[in-house]
Amino acid sequence: MQLVHDTAALDAALRPERVRGARIALVPTMGNLHEGHLSLIRRARELSDCVVVSVFVNPLQFGPNDDFDRYPRTLEADARLVAAEGAQILFAPDVAAMYPGGYPPATTLKVDGLLNQVLEGAFRPGHFDGVATVVNILFNRVRPDVAVFGQKDYQQLAVIRRMVLDLGLAVAVESATTLRADDGLALSSRNQYLKPPERALAPKLYEALQAVADGLRSGRRDFDQLCATARESLEMQGFRPQYLEVRGPDLAAPAAHLSRFVVLAAAYLGSTRLIDNLIVESVAN
Ligand code: PAJ
Repeated sequence: MQLVHDTAALDAALRPERVRGARIALVPTMGNLHEGHLSLIRRARELSDCVVVSVFVNPLQFGPNDDFDRYPRTLEADARLVAAEGAQILFAPDVAAMYPGGYPPATTLKVDGLLNQVLEGAFRPGHFDGVATVVNILFNRVRPDVAVFGQKDYQQLAVIRRMVLDLGLAVAVESATTLRADDGLALSSRNQYLKPPERALAPKLYEALQAVADGLRSGRRDFDQLCATARESLEMQGFRPQYLEVRGPDLAAPAAHLSRFVVLAAAYLGSTRLIDNLIVESVAN
């Protein structure tokens, strides 16, 4: 595994791979890697001959009150994990290497429309602009054939797919299912912010999503009532939910005749913001 910190070293590491005609996969991350990230690397290995993992805590996608400063940075441990998973290249630039024209960049991507208006888009203004901008830069630098993203960030995945369509990018976008702890909590680098009592409570978020999913599967289509009940139960248990909603797979408002839904939630537990979602198959009424 080669650890590279700038574009010149990345180019040098990728050159022989391109010459041998290797199929290149990219797994973008912000580091502090856990099993969820590693499952993306495994998927990338199945899909390619050369896996590039990027680790970059992207300031452009954090809001002024977000956790950019305290976001866990653990590059040494990450490098060991990436090597153990059999990835070929770990690209870990600093801000100057990622934004060589200076930070903030003068040129950014703007995500518009429904995808940026609902859920995460509504609660984190500018977040998806920052994500799209950095992922586009990574695509330009690595020029992967395929890139792998997690369903854990369902809306982010939708934003990336839409960016690839809108900008005509020649990258196949693959997704991987959400990995969870034994008690159901979705793995996340942010889970380590949780104090022990919060960590014990955290799986209730997944349980709230499951309660809504059960309702949908049993034929209920009173989306607002289903979600209000789940939100109230989270509040009673000490969460501060930002949203808990049923949506169609494209994140548009749900319709009763759909057979596939996504239930998505974001909630604060203490100072930690958790997000999760469930994809639900349910035969139409
Ligand atoms: P990060 O939060 O590090 O996540 C990197 C990738 O891992 C994302 O595609 C995310 O959906 C996936 N992932 C996170 N937790 C997961 C879990 N429990 N199971 C499966 N996959 C999981 O998402 C970002 O970084 C950034 O926004 C990034 C795309 C790198 C752009 O900066």
